[in-house]
Amino acid sequence: MRLIFLGPPGIGKGTQAKLLSENCSLAHLSTGDMFRSVIEQETEVGLLAKSYMDQGKLVPDRVVMEMVQERLKAPDTACGFIFDGFPRTEPQARGFDELLSSLELSIDKVIALMGDDRILVERLSSRRSCSECGRITNLIFSPPKIEMKCDHCGGDLVQRDDDKEEVILKRLEVYRNQTKPLVEYYDEKGLLIQLSGIGTVDEVAERIEEHLDKKTTGESC
Ligand code: AP5
Ligand code: MG
Repeated sequence: MRLIFLGPPGIGKGTQAKLLSENCSLAHLSTGDMFRSVIEQETEVGLLAKSYMDQGKLVPDRVVMEMVQERLKAPDTACGFIFDGFPRTEPQARGFDELLSSLELSIDKVIALMGDDRILVERLSSRRSCSECGRITNLIFSPPKIEMKCDHCGGDLVQRDDDKEEVILKRLEVYRNQTKPLVEYYDEKGLLIQLSGIGTVDEVAERIEEHLDKKTTGESC
C-alpha cells in the first residue's frame, strides 16, 4: 500500500502516519523528519533547509525532489510507504507522479486531514518531541508522566524551532496558498479521502482505518 498524508501543520499527519505505518508494516517517510535529520548532521542541504524552515517557508522543490528520489531507493519502501508532508506544492505532485511512473508504481490513496486554525495553533505550541527516540507528544493532550521526559524512553522532550507562534502562523499561510490546492489535484485523480483530524488520536486513527480498504491494510510484506 502506498499512501500520502496531506493536511495543515499540527493536524496530526506525523502522529497518524506513525501509528498506521507500525500497524501495517509500511515505511513512514516524513520529508520534515528527513530535513531535521540533515540539519542535525549539519550537511549543506541541512543548512539550506534550515534557512527556509526557520521562517516557516517551504524548502525549494528541486531539493525536496532529489531527497525523495534518493529515499525511495532504500529497500524498506518496497513493502509500501506513507508519505507525510510530501508532496506540498503542485510541481512536487507532478514530479512525484513522473517519478512513480518511472518506477512503475502508483499511489493508492491520499488521506487529507482537516481542522481549524485555532486547534492547530494550540496543538503545535504545546507539541514536544523526544530528543532520543523522536516520538511526538503534547503537553496538553498527552502530558508526559515525568515532566519533560519521554514516556517511551525517558529522553528529554524538546520543542521544534518552527513551533514558535509567529512561525506557526506563517506555516499555516504557506499551507493555504501552496499545499491546500493539492486537495483538488488528488480529488480529480479519484484518490482523495478527506477526513476530520479533530477528536482524540484514537478516534482519528479509527476514522482513517475505516476508510482504507481493510484487505489492503491487512496485507504484510
Ligand atoms: P513538517 O515536519 O512536515 O511539518 P508540518 O507539515 O508543518 O506539520 P507538523 O509536523 O507540524 O504537524 P503534523 O500534522 O505532523 O502534526 P503532529 O502529528 O506532529 O515540515 C516542517 C518544515 O519542513 C516545513 O515548514 C518546510 O519548511 C519543510 N518541508 C517539509 N516537507 C517539505 C516539502 N515537501 N516541501 C517543502 N518543504 C518541506 O501533531 C501535532 C501535535 O498535536 C503533537 O503534539 C501531537 O501530539 C498532537 N496531536 C496529534 N493528533 C492529535 C489529536 N487527535 N488530538 C490531540 N492532539 C493531537
Ligand atoms: Mg509532522
